[in-house]
Amino acid sequence: MQYTWNDIKQHVSACTLCPLSQTRHLPVMGRGDHQAGLMLIAEAPGNQEDQQGLPFVGRSGEILDKLLQDCGLTREEIYITNIVKCHPPSNRDPKEEEKKACFPYLKYETFLLKPRIIVCLGRVAAQRIISPDFKITSQHGAWTYRKDCSLTATYHPSAILRDPSKYELVKGDFDDAVKKLKQNTK
Ligand code: URA
Ligand code: SF4
Repeated sequence: MQYTWNDIKQHVSACTLCPLSQTRHLPVMGRGDHQAGLMLIAEAPGNQEDQQGLPFVGRSGEILDKLLQDCGLTREEIYITNIVKCHPPSNRDPKEEEKKACFPYLKYETFLLKPRIIVCLGRVAAQRIISPDFKITSQHGAWTYRKDCSLTATYHPSAILRDPSKYELVKGDFDDAVKKLKQNTK
């Protein structure tokens, strides 16, 4: 059977497939343009996201909006989601079993969206999506090609909050992704 966006959203909103369902307030489904060519994949909802049920509405979201704006894009033109849809207590890394339980949702999102470009934000997403030993420090901005999709990774916006000097580097990686998107090349 073919799931729709609404079906996925409904499943996520009532999901109890992993222990994060016991501590979350609201599950956080991905959000954005369902025709977008650019998909951003981050790690897990933070506190603000858990309260509002929406991705990137806290301080990381402000940085993300600035990055997008500086690249000539808005949140409405992209699609953004997370590896796990529920907030891990104290912002700890999601556990293997949690990432595994949640992965089908991401697969359906990706299947329905069919993005041309995927940018992973941070180590957790990069290691899950690109390669298990991916190192953001040395490999950020490097491209991998899979079927009809180009994939890369850069630092998570929260890394910029901790070290604002990383902004330009992440902006450079975003610029490359947007250039690819606009040129429609690989
Ligand atoms: N950080 C993430 O990784 N995801 C969000 O949705 C918000 C902050
Ligand atoms: Fe379900 Fe994913 Fe939330 Fe776990 S993190 S309860 S698998 S939606």
